[in-house]
Amino acid sequence: MDTSFLSASASTDADVAIVIDVLRASSVMVAALAAGARRVITTREVDDARDLAEEYTSDRDLTPLLCGERQCTRIEGFDLGNSPASYTASRVKNRDLILTTTNGTQAIAAAASAKEVWIGCFLNLSAIARSLPADSNVDLICAGTNGSITMEDVLFAGAVLSICDQRFELELNDESIIARQLWRSSFGRETMPSPEELSEVLKRSQGGRNLVRVGYESDIGLCANVDAYCLIPKRVHEEPAVFAVE
Ligand code: MLT
Repeated sequence: MDTSFLSASASTDADVAIVIDVLRASSVMVAALAAGARRVITTREVDDARDLAEEYTSDRDLTPLLCGERQCTRIEGFDLGNSPASYTASRVKNRDLILTTTNGTQAIAAAASAKEVWIGCFLNLSAIARSLPADSNVDLICAGTNGSITMEDVLFAGAVLSICDQRFELELNDESIIARQLWRSSFGRETMPSPEELSEVLKRSQGGRNLVRVGYESDIGLCANVDAYCLIPKRVHEEPAVFAVE
């Protein structure tokens, strides 16, 4: 497997691009589909999300929920924000969601040219790492924050690489080697950290500090729940990029 680690500003033509926004867009997408949401339709811009919702409202069965954040907070007039806790079965089961976030859905757009786009976070770590095909080019697209790389996403990239390392011969670029090293050195041992240990490390990341500042600290614990779900949101439609569980 030939693996590269990329920031969300890079472009990719990989066989598989894994879009990573641990805090919190990727985690929300996994939690929402696990709770029974039908599809997650993603947009970069808030207005595009509203326009898509307008188009859909003519079809009663497909009435979508508007979801997402700006400055970590639910967008005015939207049904749900970007907290995994809000994506319960009673809110999202059998519903289409239209999601726009500050960095996560921008990273999804950056992955547009990849052959396949998957969504990864700690909630589906093993599902991702065990499903990657051996003979593929894989790009790990880290959403970061406003163009900067952030530790929470790099940690997850490193965790994927550490698991894949046990399965395949990996060809890694330097950023991937750094990510794997960060993961291996963060907990002082090779075994998987507990959600509590991971949560403490995530709190110190840029995304974690942002969430603590605006009062969403409890979401960090939810996003640290390693392998809570065995599913992978995969892109099933381009423009807009739509994700579902096959
Ligand atoms: C993002 O896409 O920038 C994040 O998901 C921000 C957030 O968690 O609110």
